[in-house]
Amino acid sequence: MSVLIKNGRIVTAVDDYFGDVWIEGETIAKIGADLSDLEPRADRVIDASGKLVIPGGIDAHTHLDMPFGGTTSADDFDSGTKAAAHGGTTSIIDFAIQNKGESTLKGLDVWHEKAAGKATIDYSFHMIVTDMPLDRMGEMERLAEEGVTSYKLFMAYPGVLYVDDGTLYRAFRQAGLNGTRICMHAENGIVIDEIIREAVADGKFEPKWHAGTRPTRMEAEGVHRSIAIAEVADVPLYIVHLSCSDALDEVKRARMRGIDVMAETCPQYLFLDQSYYEKPDFEGAKWVMTPALREKWNQDVLWEGLKYGHLANVATDHCPFCFKGQKELGRESFTQIPNGAPGVENRMSLMFHGGVVQGRLSLNRFVELTSTAAAKTFGMFPKKGTIAVGSDADIVVFDPDKKQTISIDNPDTHHMRVDYSAYEGFEVQGWSEVVLSRGRVIVDKGSLTTEGGGEFIKRARVGDLLR
Ligand code: URP
Ligand code: ZN
Ligand code: ZN
Repeated sequence: MSVLIKNGRIVTAVDDYFGDVWIEGETIAKIGADLSDLEPRADRVIDASGKLVIPGGIDAHTHLDMPFGGTTSADDFDSGTKAAAHGGTTSIIDFAIQNKGESTLKGLDVWHEKAAGKATIDYSFHMIVTDMPLDRMGEMERLAEEGVTSYKLFMAYPGVLYVDDGTLYRAFRQAGLNGTRICMHAENGIVIDEIIREAVADGKFEPKWHAGTRPTRMEAEGVHRSIAIAEVADVPLYIVHLSCSDALDEVKRARMRGIDVMAETCPQYLFLDQSYYEKPDFEGAKWVMTPALREKWNQDVLWEGLKYGHLANVATDHCPFCFKGQKELGRESFTQIPNGAPGVENRMSLMFHGGVVQGRLSLNRFVELTSTAAAKTFGMFPKKGTIAVGSDADIVVFDPDKKQTISIDNPDTHHMRVDYSAYEGFEVQGWSEVVLSRGRVIVDKGSLTTEGGGEFIKRARVGDLLR
């Protein structure tokens, strides 16, 4: 199969020029100012006049088919990767989970079973480590050999995913020795649980108390502590879903001291705020996620962090639960609302709109934040994350002018298997029109043209290239 994408404006994290892209099989074979001599040989010609030709999006933080909060996230690897494809994302890194007391390798097998044959785009896994006794430390090297070169550990959710500081240090140290990376859910879950206990004792049960019991200082404390532990353990650290100015200050301070820490934020912290919890009739439950939505002024600080490089990446933390039957589990108390919200489909358009259209990010930075940074951080570059000869032909032909209103009722914007949109009514400019995954056209003018075909990405270690 050969594809010619012609007349497009090709934008990567560093380049911006007009030209043609020639794809042979799964990879980009040629890029040139004018490749029209190849047109007669093409199985498919895509005219990208007036469009941007950008690397397929990479969402480094999703939770598909994940048991959590007494239920399971509503998208599996079938529906979730199709929705991602519609939104211009061609690779995800999902979180496999180790059950406490069991091998992480078993957790990896379970996630391979969940994804194999179902995914329409390529996927990889971080491993959520819930314990790591000394006699099982060798598993971490085995995981790295299997292409799982990053681990997530939790300071939050005591009794569920939480691990203590000793476990953090042990896992951090081994991850550093193995040339791998730690992803950190940084919130002081022990203190937060005490605050929740007080709130419940005071009869505070509504969704808004989810935010009311998770102060930004407790996120900042987690960020500070995990950075200190990572510094001593000598491991590169990646703070996931950073939500607020307090936490970002800790990242900035550490980076100024030369510590190897980077942080991701998510569209929900850039576009939504804690007033959503005030919605009547329990509707605020739709936005119960962890960390919680924050006061609105934090948004400007996060956008500035993205612009100036203090924040390294934008991922969704896509963890959808239907309002009916799932979020409703917490009608009696916010403590029972499954934590998480949908977004994998909306990230590229939201970031283009809020970033490029609204003048906060350059086009190059938009590409970097939605694709290249994740590829480089998590051992997928240059196979993924750029448009270059030899790279996978994961490409989005992106219409920078097309406007859409994101809504559960707009079939162009909602393919996620969840009964609400976190961004209901948001008008966005910028649309993923044609999406290619390793040379296959998987979305054509908004229609999915294929199913399955996604493959596992065996990632490289920190600093190594993947070809
Ligand atoms: O609320 C969230 N973020 N749910 C997913 C689990 C996590 O902490 O990332
Ligand atoms: Zn988390
Ligand atoms: Zn998450």
